[in-house]
Amino acid sequence: MAESRPVGPLARVTAWLDERMPLTETIEYHATKYYAPKNFNFWYYFGILASVVLVMQILTGIWLTMSFVPTAEGAFASVEYIMRDVEYGYLIRYLHSTGASAFFIVVYLHMFRALAYGSYQRPRELLWLLGMAIYLVLMAEGFMGYVMPWGNMSYWGAQVIVSLFGAIPLVGGDLVEWIRGDYLMSGITLNRFFALHVVALPLALIGLVFLHIVALHHVGSNNPDGVDIKKVKDENGIPKDGIPFHPYYTVHDFQATIGFLIIFCAVVFFAPEMGGYFLEKPNFEQADPLKTPDLIAPVWYYTPFYSMLRASTFPFLGLSAKFWGLIVMFGAILLPCILPWIDRSKVKSIRYKGWGSKVMLFLFVPNFFVLGYLGTIHPTPLATALAQVGTIFYYAYFVLMPWYTSVEKTKTPPERVTM
Ligand code: HEM
Repeated sequence: MAESRPVGPLARVTAWLDERMPLTETIEYHATKYYAPKNFNFWYYFGILASVVLVMQILTGIWLTMSFVPTAEGAFASVEYIMRDVEYGYLIRYLHSTGASAFFIVVYLHMFRALAYGSYQRPRELLWLLGMAIYLVLMAEGFMGYVMPWGNMSYWGAQVIVSLFGAIPLVGGDLVEWIRGDYLMSGITLNRFFALHVVALPLALIGLVFLHIVALHHVGSNNPDGVDIKKVKDENGIPKDGIPFHPYYTVHDFQATIGFLIIFCAVVFFAPEMGGYFLEKPNFEQADPLKTPDLIAPVWYYTPFYSMLRASTFPFLGLSAKFWGLIVMFGAILLPCILPWIDRSKVKSIRYKGWGSKVMLFLFVPNFFVLGYLGTIHPTPLATALAQVGTIFYYAYFVLMPWYTSVEKTKTPPERVTM
């Protein structure tokens, strides 16, 4: 008997492609037969929202690049030209600048969820490390993007951060020169940051996000109860507490995307500067190496770490306060990488952890906000003292974790997820 041929043009095209690459297999593995826990809540929206923002940043970035001039003489004027003369240029630029802040908002919420539900614990350690790599690349991407308009804060912000590396003994001076490509911040620096911002780092981000999803789908999603849904399966081997990602979560995530875009557009149209938090006031003036802004502060998403940098005020072991500030700041950024190995708890989710974990997480969040705020104001003696206390608590959250997660009394998690 002749082999039955697929009916309809779409089925025929699919069959043709399936013979040549695993199209249906991939769609099934990642969507229609990817069983996600059915108790996902609000906190599970932010992975998809981060993906939406990533796509938006890439698209608006491509369109900005069409009119942007990456030279010290042309950059600031080309941004003004985009804002005033390019059709819808103001919109593309505000989508991109607001998108940068939105990216960090959704990524911080996404990371908080992982912290609360123990999503970094075994078997998701690699997924977590890939997430941390994304976060680091994102920070570098944001930093270099901020230099692009060559405003006065672009210039001085980059000047402060790049010159920090000068505090490293022996190699510091050469390293700073190597990063800048010049003896001072110049068009050469702007040009190389441009290459990294529009080509190298976005490529790295896309690659890392791809691996992040591959790792996630290999081990399966965690959930607010932190219980493993693969333990209880039906007669077909399908987790009883799982539902296919498509159509259930695609519809669910589509609603979240619409909700997010409404809020996002409200900001783009009515408050793109967000009172100086998303676009800082000194950046409306062109870079001027002879005019230091009254207060040099990075954009809000770096300020918790900037506070920790400034909290280091005294030399130690013959090394400068600036050097220790650098260590404290980069240490704080990298510290979450070790979470999978310092959390000794038998349970994953904060719902079943003991008081130690609950109190520490409950304090971690406001502490991060206070550090963030302190990084936006002048470093008075009181602000510096508060930043020092905040820095010590930030480190204590991680350093003490092996202790408080092992001594606290945990609750027994349920066998099946709760709704
Ligand atoms: C461009 C940035 C990122 C994108 C597009 C992204 C995307 C996603 C997506 C789509 C999911 C599944 C849906 C969800 O759980 O919300 C996910 C899960 C996850 N992500 Fe990310 N992510 C990003 C950054 C990060 C970062 C910075 C971290 C942590 C350092 C991280 C850690 C995790 C973890 C642990 C999970 C599993 C959560 C669970 O199953 O409970 N991700 N990510």
